[in-house]
Amino acid sequence: MSIFGSSLLSIKSLETNDIEFLFNKARLYKDEFKKHGRIDHLVHSVSSSRPYVLMMVFFEPSTRTRVSFQMAAYRLGLRSIIFDSPTSSSLQKGETYFDTLKNLSAMKPDLMIVRYGDSIEVERVLLEMSCPVVNAGSGSGEHPTQALLDAFTLCEHLTSLQGVKILLVGDIIHSRVAKSNLYLLRLLGAEIGICGPAHLLPDSAGEWKSVQRFSHLDEGMKWCQVLMGLRLQKERHSPDDLQEMKKQRAEEESYRVESKHLRKLSTSALILHPGPVIQGEEFAPEVLSDSRCRVLTQVTNGLFIRAALYSMILGLDQ
Ligand code: CP
Repeated sequence: MSIFGSSLLSIKSLETNDIEFLFNKARLYKDEFKKHGRIDHLVHSVSSSRPYVLMMVFFEPSTRTRVSFQMAAYRLGLRSIIFDSPTSSSLQKGETYFDTLKNLSAMKPDLMIVRYGDSIEVERVLLEMSCPVVNAGSGSGEHPTQALLDAFTLCEHLTSLQGVKILLVGDIIHSRVAKSNLYLLRLLGAEIGICGPAHLLPDSAGEWKSVQRFSHLDEGMKWCQVLMGLRLQKERHSPDDLQEMKKQRAEEESYRVESKHLRKLSTSALILHPGPVIQGEEFAPEVLSDSRCRVLTQVTNGLFIRAALYSMILGLDQ
């Protein structure tokens, strides 16, 4: 299957050959950038008689994803418009997300990149856009490009993800990164484990039913070859939940990764986190300085994964 002209709303729409193709292209871009400090000469977007214009719509806050999508566009010589300030838009006057997206799409961008909260209405309108759409993080639903850059980072260090044991730690139930990673890492052959306070773990019935569950962080650390930390998604909890969680603070703290846990982790293991890392909550500060930590490599790789995705969707190959 080719993803030329297609949207990327869920990892589930990708097949292994798409992922392989995307990773090869991202690798090519990363190597080329390392050698020559540029990648725009590898695509025809600059010299094209039809310059592409991307529209980035961020209804929810973002640092890495928003800037990385924009940086990747600039590195390829693509033009972009960012709509990331709902408070200065007509949303303030009562216009809905649905109508906002319809109107932005009516301006005929070549590609839209959209971050939004949990909304069936938005999900529906994204299927009707006049151009391909990339999901830049959808509520507690999915974050496909984050999962792709996570898997790409792992593939740089491990020959294959077949049978690799990956432990997700923290607020799994509200995490779109956890869901997209579950779909992608499994497709690539990895074995998934989860660990966190009981109230932040998904039901053992649905799509998480065959994952390994660890009630103690130490056990999970001994089991895994990759540790992926996830922050508490406070914005997805109701005020009642947050109140309840204050009472369970001690339980949550027992899942914070600290030096004593790092000692249980294999010396060849890798530590990932999609960011933002809330230091002192899910990770003690020493985790980010551990030699096994790849958090900033993930950020760098995000740039090349997103550039490769633009290239494949828009057909920018020379
Ligand atoms: N990983 C991630 O989505 O980070 P941002 O929310 O800062 O974009």
